[in-house]
Order: sequence, then structure tokens, then C-alpha cells
Amino acid sequence: MPVRNMELRDVDMAIELINKEGWGHTRIDIDRILSLSPESNLIWESDGVTRGFVTSLVYENSAMVGHVLVSKESRGHQIGKGLLKSLFDKLDSKGIDSIILYATEDGARLYRGLGFKETNDLFSAGLWIRESVKKTLEQECAKVQEADLDELVDMDAKTYGDSRSDLIRRLYRDFPEHCFKLERSGKSTGFVYGRRTPIGFDIGPWICMSGSEKDATSLLSSVIRSFPSGGRVDLSLFCDHPLAGKILSEFRQYKPLERVKLMVRGEPMYSHDRDKVFGTAGFELG
Ligand SMILES: CC(C)(COP(=O)(O)OP(=O)(O)OC[C@H]1O[C@@H](n2cnc3c(N)ncnc32)[C@H](O)[C@@H]1OP(=O)(O)O)[C@@H](O)C(=O)NCCC(=O)NCCS
Repeated sequence: MPVRNMELRDVDMAIELINKEGWGHTRIDIDRILSLSPESNLIWESDGVTRGFVTSLVYENSAMVGHVLVSKESRGHQIGKGLLKSLFDKLDSKGIDSIILYATEDGARLYRGLGFKETNDLFSAGLWIRESVKKTLEQECAKVQEADLDELVDMDAKTYGDSRSDLIRRLYRDFPEHCFKLERSGKSTGFVYGRRTPIGFDIGPWICMSGSEKDATSLLSSVIRSFPSGGRVDLSLFCDHPLAGKILSEFRQYKPLERVKLMVRGEPMYSHDRDKVFGTAGFELG
């Protein structure tokens, strides 16, 4: 099979395919994935032409499939399936016991055939930050400090179901000015990460261990206050979360965008404490 590891020299081609598909991902997203998990991204190349690629992030015992993309001209020749099978062989040989991904309705058919099962529905949401709304938001949360990271990694692991230490540390290091934690009685009860993207800002993870609407709203308010007015903010949340959608709907200029399915091959993820997950890390991060 003409499959090889994806390298830095392949990023331009990957971006070209992504742009043709009209997805909003850029070099920053691919570079981050490549630097966090350099050996779990594959390219299909034949006759000197890149036909498709898959990206994934490998955590402690689980992995997250990010991009699965085959060029329009090369579809229908088992390339997508071949890339995924090669990736799964690799992940299986590392002893990974759970692989997750977020699938569109169409994509879900392909993944079902590869042993994935649907667990939960999620949707992405877009917020537009208005100065008039920003002015009303309270700033109750403190900025995350390097010394808080062990605690945040633990909180994330409890809710996601596996340690994502490198990811949680890396996202903080990239944008410390947009990362906040909430303390109650001297103990951290939640955190929220924000980051700049070429089209605006992303929020996630947004974790609140108390599960309280007030605490989760404080976290969201703090991160939104850290963004400039006029920007667009994207986040992804579980459709059946009892409070997250309600909190978002209280922010004017909010719009549900894409709906996807969390699919799992192996052990389910996000299976405990899911009501503490107000927002996931994102559709490419898990
Ligand atoms: C989805 C995609 C990666 C499939 O790649 P591909 O090389 O054309 O697929 P393959 O030839 O390997 O097909 C594998 C199987 O998936 C099925 N399949 C392929 N594309 C499909 C689609 N869009 N919807 C449903 N099933 C699909 C095929 O019928 C085939 O089934 P079979 O093995 O039983 O015959 C490709 O269509 C693509 O890049 N689409 C745009 C990006 C996208 O949607 N990615 C997935 C996001 S969740």
C-alpha cells in the first residue's frame, strides 16, 4: 500500500486538500497535531501525487482521528479505507484500546464498516462577540498558571477518560492569556481554554466539576472577555448536555452550526461525568 508517515514537507499539500474541501483548518492545526503525535499521521502517495491523508492524536491509552480526506479525483478507490486501516494497525500495535472520531452523517457509514459505534451527538456553535454583551460579563476566574497544569490534566482525564497531558499543556503554552480556572473554597472546580484561530477563536475544553450553571457561566464569561469584540468564537458541545446549550443561548448572537456523532472503536470515552463537560476540546482534538 503506498502509505507513509506524514512529514512537515506534506503540510502544504494537506492544506491545499483542506482548502478545496472548504474546511476551516489551517497550518496551525496540522502543525500542532504533527508535533504532538508525529508518528500517527499518514499520507497516501501514488505516481508522485498525494491522494489523501489521515491525522490523529495519540493520548495515553486512546487516540483521536482528526482529518480523513481523499482528493476529489481519487475517491472511490479504497484510499480512505486503506489509510484508516493502516492507521488502526499502527494504533493497535501501540496497545491503544480506544479510538474516537467525530463523524458527519455521511462519514458515519464509512466508519461503521470499520468497527466504529456511535455514542453521542454533538454540535458546533458559533458566537459573535459584541462589545455590549462583553461589558456585562463578570470576570470571576483567575488566569491559569503553569503550576495549575497537573490539576487541570487530572480534571480533563476524569471527564475525557484518559490522560491528555501533552495536549492540555500544549494548548495552554500556545495561548496562556485565554486560559482560565475557577476556584471555590481554595480548590479548582473547573477550567476553560480559549485560543486564537485564523478565523476567530476556539473555546475548549470547558470543564466544570461542580456541574453548576453559575460556575460554568463564570468560566465562559471569563474566556469570552479575553477575546476582542467583533470576533467569532467556535465551540463544540454534547447535544444532550443539560446546561451547556442553555448557557450559550443566553449569549446573544449564538448559532448552532454543524452536527456530528462521536464514534468509538473499543472502549467508550466521555462515558463518566459527561455533565461536567460543557465544551469538548474540539472536533480535531477530542
Ligand atoms: C470520506 C472519504 C475520506 C472516503 O474516501 P474514499 O477513498 O473515497 O473511500 P473508499 O474508496 O476507501 O471507500 C471506503 C468505503 O466507504 C464508503 N464511502 C466512501 N465515501 C463515502 C461517503 N461520502 N459516504 C458514505 N460512504 C462512503 C464506500 O462506499 C466504501 O465502502 P465499501 O468498502 O463497502 O465499498 C472521502 O470521500 C473524502 O475525503 N470525503 C470528504 C471529506 C470527508 O467527508 N471526510 C470524512 C469526515 S467525517
